[in-house]
Amino acid sequence: MNTQAHAEDAPVGIFDSGLGGLSILRHVRAQLPHEHLFYVADTGFAPYGDKPEHVVAERSLAVARFLVERGAKAIVVACNTATISAVKLMRESFPAMPIVGVEPGLKPAAAITRSGKVGVLATERTLAGAKFLQLRDQITEATGAQFLLQPCRGLVDKIELGDPEGTLQLLHRYVTPLLDAGADTLVLGCTHYPLVQAAIEEVIASTGARDIALIDTGEAVARQLVRLLDAGLLLRPAQSDAPARLDAYTSASATALSAAFNGLIGIDPPVREATFGAA
Ligand code: DGL
Repeated sequence: MNTQAHAEDAPVGIFDSGLGGLSILRHVRAQLPHEHLFYVADTGFAPYGDKPEHVVAERSLAVARFLVERGAKAIVVACNTATISAVKLMRESFPAMPIVGVEPGLKPAAAITRSGKVGVLATERTLAGAKFLQLRDQITEATGAQFLLQPCRGLVDKIELGDPEGTLQLLHRYVTPLLDAGADTLVLGCTHYPLVQAAIEEVIASTGARDIALIDTGEAVARQLVRLLDAGLLLRPAQSDAPARLDAYTSASATALSAAFNGLIGIDPPVREATFGAA
């Protein structure tokens, strides 16, 4: 058997606590249209952002194990909270596996802010993570940029529920004070937030603020995945016989995840219900 060809043909595993990873998946599909993909929505355990770090870390490891057991050749941790809490542990646990994490885009934000003030919207867990705070301090020291941290308690739940009114209400509460404080750049530090970018823009417009930049690292994450697959000789060739497949798994309702795939990115992959470690 040609082992290299077998490895190239294996899927890339992408996971999040729920729908947020779809904001990464869409960039991965655009940049790597020939790759087979597994998407895991750990909706039954969501949100991750208000849980203790060790709980998120254990759960993320269980999801990673699920993907490894199903033959994933690489893993994208499409969740800032899981990355901050668990990516180091995951790399230690699966040293041969290319693992791409997603972190709030503080560096690109510091590079473009004109006011020197950057608002960071993320979960409580992300903003309290030692890895995040270290990054923030390094960038502040190097650039002088000031980061205004805004934990967005409850926002992931509203987005998961598909509740536009509730989402808008919370966005007003979280975004307006950052703009009032002089932020001209907002980091979307949770992969769920790009899914409601239109609502964020509506809130910004309602305050009268202009030229507010939004930073989403989804495209950069997909580029990093391309680099790692390329370096590991793991890219699936464009001329492969079978078309690229996408299979999705959820720890909650398959019907709900199917509807979300349809509504958010207009595709209809097979979705199965699954358990990841202890519930
Ligand atoms: N999409 C996850 C993130 O990027 C949301 C975490 C949660 O479930 O609270 O942080």
